[in-house]
Amino acid sequence: MDHSNYFEVNKAAWNKRTIVNRGSEFYDVESFKAGKSSLNPLEIESLKDVSGKSMLHLQCHFGLDSLSWAREGAIVTGIDFSDEAIRTAKQLSADLNIPAEFICCNVYDTLEHIRQPYDIVFTTYGVIGWLPDLHKWADVISKALKPGGIFFLAEFHPVLWMFDDDFEYIKYAYHNDGVIAETQTGTYADRSADITYQEYSWNHSLSEVMTALIEHGLFIEEFTELNYSYYNCFNKTIRGENGYWYIKGLENKIPMMYAIKARKT
Ligand SMILES: C[S@@+](CC[C@H](N)C(=O)[O-])C[C@H]1O[C@@H](n2cnc3c(N)ncnc32)[C@H](O)[C@@H]1O
Repeated sequence: MDHSNYFEVNKAAWNKRTIVNRGSEFYDVESFKAGKSSLNPLEIESLKDVSGKSMLHLQCHFGLDSLSWAREGAIVTGIDFSDEAIRTAKQLSADLNIPAEFICCNVYDTLEHIRQPYDIVFTTYGVIGWLPDLHKWADVISKALKPGGIFFLAEFHPVLWMFDDDFEYIKYAYHNDGVIAETQTGTYADRSADITYQEYSWNHSLSEVMTALIEHGLFIEEFTELNYSYYNCFNKTIRGENGYWYIKGLENKIPMMYAIKARKT
């Protein structure tokens, strides 16, 4: 099936979002420039010491996580199909003198752009929902990894994507029921931003994600589910005592994030 029209529309949406996101309090680029890492405990505790390791960061947005890993000593290549995002990532890398390579391409075309397999493939928070075909995605990941290499995914939990935007009722299927077409305003980083765009997304159940990885030679070593979000990017959130975010009225009743660490066999 040809998804090129969906990708074109989503790319335009992400270019609009990126222009708002990079100046938002949510991303707080000034603190990042001053040395603050954008990484979260899940990925830091799972990947541990990345010093000297080659890392491919899929759907890197405008590069904060990629450059945070580079600050930790990883040799990073970031990939994203938003030219605005890649332009900003390259600019940050140059301005802050943090070496990293950034490539503008669709995640499905990654293998045409990389020269060698990596020690780590990393992708997190708000990524797979833009991808229609997880088997093709897992094939790219597997081929981009060295034997014994590590794949790390942290994502928002598919249970969240079943709800309407205000978490009042179940609107969508848990599993992949085909494309979801929506018109959005603002961005998760700044809801009041004066932008409107069309977007296409897909829901992916946990079994769909895991089966795709397993069938492409990835052995799952760690699987974690968490009942909070590191990011305040949903409607109706409240902050927990741990400093992280819950949906008001659904606190500790639904999972909000998950992570998978897998090794290429
Ligand atoms: C939510 S962001 C990634 C989040 C990242 N954790 C962050 O906050 O910086 C999702 C990214 O996926 C990218 N993206 C979406 N679909 C893509 C595709 N088919 N190929 C490559 N990049 C894609 C978007 O351009 C965007 O930068």
